[in-house]
Amino acid sequence: MIARMTDAATNPIPPFPAGFLWGVSTSAHQIEGAADLREPSVWDAFTAEPGHVKDGSTAAVACDHYHRHPEDVALLRGLGVDAYRFSVSWPRVNSPGGLDFYDRLVDELCAAGVRPVPTLFHWDLPLSQADAGGWLERDTAGRFAEYAALVAARLGDRVSKWITLNEPAEHTLLGHALGAHAPGKRLLFDALPAAHHQLLAHGLAIQALRAAGATDIGIANSHGPTWPASREPADLEAAGFYDLLLNRLFADPVLLGRYPDGIGELMPGDAEDLAADLKIIGQPVDWYGINYYAPTRVGAPQGSEIEFGGLTMPAELPFSVREIEGYPVTDFGWPVVPEALTELLVDFRGRYGDRLPPVVITENGCSYEGLDDQERISYLDGHLRALHRAYEQGVDVRGYFVWSLLDNFEWAEGYARRFGLVHVDFETLERTPKASYHWLRDVLRAQRPGR
Ligand code: NOJ
Repeated sequence: MIARMTDAATNPIPPFPAGFLWGVSTSAHQIEGAADLREPSVWDAFTAEPGHVKDGSTAAVACDHYHRHPEDVALLRGLGVDAYRFSVSWPRVNSPGGLDFYDRLVDELCAAGVRPVPTLFHWDLPLSQADAGGWLERDTAGRFAEYAALVAARLGDRVSKWITLNEPAEHTLLGHALGAHAPGKRLLFDALPAAHHQLLAHGLAIQALRAAGATDIGIANSHGPTWPASREPADLEAAGFYDLLLNRLFADPVLLGRYPDGIGELMPGDAEDLAADLKIIGQPVDWYGINYYAPTRVGAPQGSEIEFGGLTMPAELPFSVREIEGYPVTDFGWPVVPEALTELLVDFRGRYGDRLPPVVITENGCSYEGLDDQERISYLDGHLRALHRAYEQGVDVRGYFVWSLLDNFEWAEGYARRFGLVHVDFETLERTPKASYHWLRDVLRAQRPGR
């Protein structure tokens, strides 16, 4: 396919610093399939119940990456990325031969000149652990650290960059507070222990990884600017609270070793336990990963349940999420606002100052149909320029990972949302690079001439 002339051809993206890490991201449950070769996860149980996934699909086969990984590694090599962020499935590691799979994958990546960047938890908790209470129980954090040690012992000789957790905020909100994701709990504020135990798991896993000799450890937290619906005090207050709940609740303990005011009291354990946990949670990360998609417009509660972005927001919430008008939207309905990425990063740098280590964008991308995905090209182009502006304004950005290499199982949306640079035909499992794949390959060549 001949890609149309894009901005990148006519007006190149300004160069990022030497050593900047270019990559793409995926996650185990969303691409691997081969569910019969591992113990079940909480997502298998969730998708088996009707009504949870819009198209009624499951990830039993997904992209069948488990069997087709050589083809996918060849796609990575063809794209020319420096790094590949994938996740290790804890239920697979619990199953015979599970670690062998990641061992082979890591070997293939190294042979292809692509740096493996594993995420240790991307939402697919072993069902046995979920049945024992999952993230609502403190014990899960300890079990996670044991699993992390196991993975590090096996892969640590070839893996030089690690991610503990993916988006504990979304996993808490969607999985435990609103029930839209596995494990399907609608606990509202009683979901907060799931946040604390994930954060504790992050801290304990850092200890386990470092004890195994691992270095360069980060976390992939989801963040986005919160835009108040108006300058009215009630809207400002609601937006401030949303920002606290979705952004600061997950960044402050990791970067500052404390919860935002008023939140610690809601967490499990007495003050002394909490202080000890926060010491573990707040031990320095080597870098900080941010998954960014869009800003959120937030206003005062509207007094009744509202439907937003496929979610049912209960009336009890002290805020309401509103439409963002005046911007194009993706097929998912998410607004496309590249400049909000600059805003986010510059504000983050202001908020955390020297406590903010180098930043890597661990996910950024959009869902659109079609092989000639000019909208995706323009989304990525705009966000890379926005990222560069943050760099020019002093934010120490060290890498950028596109979500995602392949179209895949988009959780409660099933296969309807296509985030891939590579199209997957879910009947035949055939992979076809989209226009955005060719575009990104050319961007990478221009950014690193001679590589
Ligand atoms: C965040 C999640 O980490 C990933 O699993 C998901 O597919 C993308 N965002 C897109 O929604």
